[in-house]
Amino acid sequence: MNTEVAALDMRGVRRTFEAENAPVRALRGVDLAVGGGEFVALMGPSGCGKSTLLNLVAGLDVPDEGMIAVAGEQVTGRSEDDLARLRRRHIGIVFQFFNLLEGMTVLENVALPALIAGRKRRMAETRARDLLDLLGIGDKAGTLPGVLSGGQRQRLAIARALANEPTLLLADEPTGALDSEGGSEVIELLRRLHAGGQTIILVTHDADVAAAAKRLVRMRDGRIVTQPEPAAADPGSAEPAAEPAAAEPAAAEHAAAEHGPGVRADTR
Ligand SMILES: Nc1ncnc2c1ncn2[C@@H]1O[C@H](COP(=O)(O)OP(=O)(O)OP(=O)(O)O)[C@@H](O)[C@H]1O
Ligand SMILES: [Mg+2]
Repeated sequence: MNTEVAALDMRGVRRTFEAENAPVRALRGVDLAVGGGEFVALMGPSGCGKSTLLNLVAGLDVPDEGMIAVAGEQVTGRSEDDLARLRRRHIGIVFQFFNLLEGMTVLENVALPALIAGRKRRMAETRARDLLDLLGIGDKAGTLPGVLSGGQRQRLAIARALANEPTLLLADEPTGALDSEGGSEVIELLRRLHAGGQTIILVTHDADVAAAAKRLVRMRDGRIVTQPEPAAADPGSAEPAAEPAAAEPAAAEHAAAEHGPGVRADTR
């Protein structure tokens, strides 16, 4: 964990997509800083720009305006090769639908990013084994991903994202395709990774999932609407009155989770 340099620093980030009728202003000036070791949940209505934000942070897409730095290194204004190197070193990304390589064993899936990054096979596989043990699927190393449960598949995807010890773990609705048991497994894992110092940004539509994070960032129409401090003293005044409860009751639940036991029975 590095507390000197922010894990993520975004300033004035804008991204507009050309569409058939009118341009879509997916991000309209986003400022966001995430410190080393933070666990941030990003919530907001469909289409508000959450995945766009993660893609920009990961260097998979380029902003029209603004600055993005990960671990003090500029993501913006780099060559493709340079960006790929930065991504390998600093970014682990997990998606809703796993993106696993079905023809490779569980172990090979996890070892691959380190091999691509130029590590020796022995080292890559040793680290992969350690990760699989840590994530509770060490006994599945030799099998194909197809035989795993949904929760196990997502844990495998997370193990793979952690292969190069990234500064930032980005997760885009990692429980979106899972049943409640699989979702609970993944939340529990993210909690443990955070306890071990991993910086995490988690996009979710699910308030129970967001409650695992220590800070909630809400987006709407391409902007961040509130950015409560980690230890907001008065959750009642932390949200502006404009936030309708019907849209997503996450903030209240999240605040409750921060101030009480908060862990629901079904998240173990
Ligand atoms: N490559 C693209 N080309 C054109 N429009 C895009 C592209 N990617 C995203 N958009 C548009 O930008 C807006 C933000 O999309 P984004 O995927 O970031 O939303 P989101 O908050 O992740 O939504 P969801 O919760 O449904 O995943 C949407 O209106 C979307 O249609
Ligand atoms: Mg999305």
